[in-house]
Amino acid sequence: MYKNIVILTGAGISAESGIATFRDGGGLWSSHKVEDVATLNGYRRNPALVHDFYNSRRRELKNVSPNPAHIALAELEENHPGSVVIVTQNVDDLHERAGTKNLLHMHGELLSIRCEACGYKFKSGTDFSIESVCPKCSKKGVLRPDIVWFGEVPMHLEKIELLLISADLFISIGTSGAVYPAAGFVSIARNSAHTVEINIEASITASLFHEQIAGKAGKAVPEYVKKLLQATE
Ligand code: APR
Repeated sequence: MYKNIVILTGAGISAESGIATFRDGGGLWSSHKVEDVATLNGYRRNPALVHDFYNSRRRELKNVSPNPAHIALAELEENHPGSVVIVTQNVDDLHERAGTKNLLHMHGELLSIRCEACGYKFKSGTDFSIESVCPKCSKKGVLRPDIVWFGEVPMHLEKIELLLISADLFISIGTSGAVYPAAGFVSIARNSAHTVEINIEASITASLFHEQIAGKAGKAVPEYVKKLLQATE
């Protein structure tokens, strides 16, 4: 029975909830230029465009729900006697809404906003613009999405590294393995953990995993979680 389970999730786990992934056909990066909406330079160049991009993704959260994959992972955390931690690249709130507690958003969150002037961070589901005023320092035009853009340092990396070196099971779900440092987590974990990739198709880093399960997360994750929980009985 595994004692320290670390789970990395990517956009693929939210696809069946209706949230577009980034690199699949019709994904976000086929309709938006990364440099325009997911870099600090893009934000400085055209903050209104970037606010619109994140406002529409934030609004979308009201119309989607966790799918069986999110729910199964919350059940695993609830019922597995060992430690279960999810490290997500996703900025949606579907893991939280499924009941997951031990969760690290390494690329930030759509529902979190940050003031560039005073550093204040707060949760909000509303739209923001260059007219928005910081509730703490009252400056205008200084609020940005609390999202990690390309070229910025992902969050919680030290804590994640410690989790990976002490894991005995590392599961990667719904990520293409296209973006580091997340794509390198399997290389750290595989020294001590059994590593499993659950993805609709082999990711770029698939060959680094001890085990690959091809399938849609909404079906393959509940099946795998059931197997894990049966092993603890
Ligand atoms: N079930 C399982 N896997 C799926 C499903 C599904 N229903 N649908 C898609 N996938 C897989 C795709 O095959 C792909 O391998 O999920 C992966 C999604 O890959 P990306 O779109 O690249 O998303 P992700 O890996 O999360 O991107 C990583 O890149 O743009 C940045 O910050 C952004 O966090 C994001 C990071």
